[in-house]
Amino acid sequence: MPSSLFRTKNIDKIISDAAIAEESAHGGGGLKRVLTLKDLTFFGIAAILGAGSFSSLGEACFKGGPGVVILFIICGIACAFTAFCYSEFASRIPVAGSAYTYAYASFGELFAWIIGWALVMEYSIGNIYVAYSWSDYFTSFLHRINISIPDYLTCSYTESHKAVLEHSSNEELINAWNTAPVISGLRIIFDLPALLINMLITYLVYRGIKESRNFSNVMVILKLAVVILIILVGGYYIFANNSFHNWFPENNEHIQSFMPNGFSGVMMAVSGVFFAYIGFDAVSVLAEESKNPQRDLPRGMALSLVICTIIYILLALVLTGVTNYRNFENVGDPLAKIFEPKFLNIAWMQFLVSICAVVAMTSVLLVFQMGQPRIWMSMSRDGLLPPVFQKVHKKYNTPSFSTILTGLVVGVPILFTDKTFVLDFTSIATLFAFVLVCGGVLLIPKKEKVAGKFTIPYINGKLIFPAMIIGTMILLQIFAKGYFAGLFNFDLSGNADYVAGKISFMDAAITNISLIIFWGLCLVLSVITFSKNYSLIPLMGLTSCLYLLTGMTKSNWVWFISWLLIGLVVYFLYGYRKSKLALEV
Ligand code: ALA
Repeated sequence: MPSSLFRTKNIDKIISDAAIAEESAHGGGGLKRVLTLKDLTFFGIAAILGAGSFSSLGEACFKGGPGVVILFIICGIACAFTAFCYSEFASRIPVAGSAYTYAYASFGELFAWIIGWALVMEYSIGNIYVAYSWSDYFTSFLHRINISIPDYLTCSYTESHKAVLEHSSNEELINAWNTAPVISGLRIIFDLPALLINMLITYLVYRGIKESRNFSNVMVILKLAVVILIILVGGYYIFANNSFHNWFPENNEHIQSFMPNGFSGVMMAVSGVFFAYIGFDAVSVLAEESKNPQRDLPRGMALSLVICTIIYILLALVLTGVTNYRNFENVGDPLAKIFEPKFLNIAWMQFLVSICAVVAMTSVLLVFQMGQPRIWMSMSRDGLLPPVFQKVHKKYNTPSFSTILTGLVVGVPILFTDKTFVLDFTSIATLFAFVLVCGGVLLIPKKEKVAGKFTIPYINGKLIFPAMIIGTMILLQIFAKGYFAGLFNFDLSGNADYVAGKISFMDAAITNISLIIFWGLCLVLSVITFSKNYSLIPLMGLTSCLYLLTGMTKSNWVWFISWLLIGLVVYFLYGYRKSKLALEV
């Protein structure tokens, strides 16, 4: 049994299976190959630029101050390395399924299943966050044109309940609780716009790739134009008002600093910042609908990632330059906020940004809602999910059952989750998938460079990687005195929440524990790299994603591990027995 858990699928077999499936679906109908490099890049931007920049950026700036741009750079670098790995896999295995398919070829079936299971969180649970944010901007847009929806139909039950329990000052959430109709003792509070947009998107995806693509391209152009306008107008006012001092605000000790809450404050923003980057990998699930996947997939991912990284850095600088970073506490619409009368006072920009945010997030929803069914389709082809998951609609040529199921998986939890929860959940699962993709590239056999196909440039990590790790550890020891001793010290007297009894010892100590594990893994990787001559780029992707995981909290880990355990139960009950590889033996 143990070896069968790690049975891997041969890369040539994955490609030929996909070709057979494509042939057999409606006499060769299958998924249509219609997407070009431009479409793929647009898909990347459509997936990346959304709730992260329009919504969670505010809270990220509040936590990290202007220094949050450093985290954007770190995440951008981590994603760039990871994009190389996705590209290598996507170019070698140009079939739908993304990280799931890649893991099947490298780590084997059990890990492939785990990744497929984790990707449900990236694609479906991530879309819940985007749907909530979409609803926030949509509701505020309606307010601006004097249309109002009752508060109990614009927020989640959990958020409203939490606000009441915590005596929050958020009037809308409290009002939702106090005015909601009660049926059999249950308050009817749910986010109606979030539910409706999910239904609309599910319908569009069900209708077909071509229609979805046309819709998506228009939205991407519009949101890029408005984001650039925000940067130009905001940037102009930073110069005109000479408000550069906002980039060096006072910290609690009244010292001016680019990172007023220190580097740990910056790292606290990791879920929100990383979430903003999720999406470039969604391009790889379109392999079977792309005209020239070998050439265009890597390019599409790289282009969309570079464009978005530049935009994020500029947006973060504009927000924290226009006003003091503390003004972004609990702000869900930061890009519209800076144009309010209290700050720049430009009404038309406020209006434009609200509309654009709605558009931006619609395109993100569309891309993720298209990605999920395609991953399930691949899993079903391998026998890990029932055959109905690969059913293709006769007329629209789309995975019909999986598309509707995705709509339900996104729609039903909208009724009983909240934004913070789904944001953390999505980020940890996606980082986990990225770690496995980067690690997977290290395991697949090296191949000859083929003209026209993407191959990661091979830089031997043998000496460079261990030297970088040990060099960094020495520099930390010299310049951040007591860094390593501090990790083992567990003196939590400086942690206000712990001292006040608000969080447990484990909650407070989780960062130390994660960092100890991280440095331990780096040393182990250095030793293996020294003996196996691993390639440097995937190693850097692996290390940087592992580092970002150290920013996750205890509750993130608890939820994530519970989710994985449920996945394992499902796998042993169904996939392990029905897997095509199992039946071939
Ligand atoms: N990166 C995507 C967004 O920010 C998930 O909405």
